[in-house]
Amino acid sequence: MNQVMSFDHVSGILTCQAGCVLENLSSYLEEKDFIMPLDLGAKGSCQIGGNVATNAGGLRLLRYGSLRGTVLGLEVVLADGKVLNCLATLRKDNTGYDLKQLFIGSEGTLGVITAVSILCPRKPRAVNVAFLGCSTFQQLLETFQCCRGMLGEILSAFEFLDSACMRLLEKHLKLVNPITESPFYIVIETAGSNAAHDEEKLHNFLETVMESSLVTDGTVATEDAKIKALWAMRERVTEALTHDGYTYKYDISLPVEKIYQLVTDMRHHLGDRAKNVVGYGHVGDGNLHLNITSPTKDPTLLAAIEPYVYEWTAGCRGSISAEHGLGLKKKNYIYFSKPPEAVALMGNIKSMLDPHGILNPYKTLPDNLC
Ligand code: LAC
Ligand code: ZN
Repeated sequence: MNQVMSFDHVSGILTCQAGCVLENLSSYLEEKDFIMPLDLGAKGSCQIGGNVATNAGGLRLLRYGSLRGTVLGLEVVLADGKVLNCLATLRKDNTGYDLKQLFIGSEGTLGVITAVSILCPRKPRAVNVAFLGCSTFQQLLETFQCCRGMLGEILSAFEFLDSACMRLLEKHLKLVNPITESPFYIVIETAGSNAAHDEEKLHNFLETVMESSLVTDGTVATEDAKIKALWAMRERVTEALTHDGYTYKYDISLPVEKIYQLVTDMRHHLGDRAKNVVGYGHVGDGNLHLNITSPTKDPTLLAAIEPYVYEWTAGCRGSISAEHGLGLKKKNYIYFSKPPEAVALMGNIKSMLDPHGILNPYKTLPDNLC
């Protein structure tokens, strides 16, 4: 199931089977002067069906929005074997309930996605990437605000990693920090249609943030190889973590000004019980990846992390799973982010669509409902 079924050059709508690897779709589209609206570190192995089933976010959500907006249609096999053909290729369709949304992000618990149609943007003619250093998270946030104002419509990503992530990249992957050491690093990408215009905007922005000392050091890339090298500093953090020991992973949505406070509080809370506590993620989306490593799997450490991390998140009305889903490990914590009435309604939907519990059983819904 890895075939492109159709591509419309005028509308930019791609229809393909669920097993297409994300990176292959990107290459296919690039030849046609288009791109996929989502991009993530795992692009070389992840499949579009899984991306949609988990509503993967990734690095470009800030610009192109979530799959809930860009996916226009789905083909789904239901628990009773019926094929639900909702493979529409329309931007607008208000004929009753939007059933595809039930399957986007349902982690395979309501049906098996077999084909997807998706709206793809034109390939930008000019791409720039800046890698910057900041002394405090407050300055990083001010840089974000300034960036939104000054780069406006060409801003396509605003990502961050902390110095603990940088140390892991250097130690385990032998990557070289392209700028002077800082407590925080930012990756900013611009994507536009006019290189001179974009470069001028980026230049003015960089001048402003450097002059006001929001940013302490930085480097900019316009050509492909250097762009890839700068992106690697952000995309390969998860890979570096796998070499650091057993990793406890949290994928949290919070009001953006709170995202780093959780990392700092967790460090104090755990003291020397953890090997490393690191923070990185999608600032533009208010999405923090908080990862904690330990030499081995450690139930005492886990008991110190949970439910602390969930209580902290619920205290800010955040989400305990911003983009990675609940799966097996987090399903019983759903109540930290959803009221009981909402979880009960999810249970009703599950029993209507999958009365015998055969679709990805024991996942997503809490124990009493799956
Ligand atoms: C990332 C993955 C962990 O953003 O979602 O790198
Ligand atoms: Zn992420």
